[in-house]
Amino acid sequence: MQLLCLHGPNLNLLGSREPGIYGSSSLEQINAALQQRAADMGAAIDCFHSNHEGALVDRIHQARGTVAGILINAGAYTHTSIAIRDALLGVVIPYVELHLSNVHAREPFRHHSHLADKALGVICGFGPLSYQLALEGLVQHLQSAAAAG
Ligand code: DQA
Repeated sequence: MQLLCLHGPNLNLLGSREPGIYGSSSLEQINAALQQRAADMGAAIDCFHSNHEGALVDRIHQARGTVAGILINAGAYTHTSIAIRDALLGVVIPYVELHLSNVHAREPFRHHSHLADKALGVICGFGPLSYQLALEGLVQHLQSAAAAG
């Protein structure tokens, strides 16, 4: 099972960026742990980061026909990007939205997501563990769907 994890703007700064909110793990450490966990579950996951909305849209388009499911932490684009929402719906690939921080306990402008209502599920607030929890949910969903035919 081939999966894709998308990281949006500023997540390349993880480890040094507002560690009180986002923790001390780097993006490389998060990706390595995610790839290990995916392998343990018999899946493969490609991780892609961009600070640019169009690059994320292009990567979503490339996933069509090759990727069974997507994990997405779109960063601030979560709250602003209709283009990323349209790309995810356009390729018809199930996705899980996730965030390191609990966006609902933060500023009001972080409470709205353009992705959440069409996601399989949303995980937030568990720091780097949010990625693992989202992966678990996505793989179990895809396996159940495959078993059901
Ligand atoms: C974030 C939350 C967003 O509101 C913020 O813009 C980010 C990171 C998170 O993982 O907690 O860049 O997606």
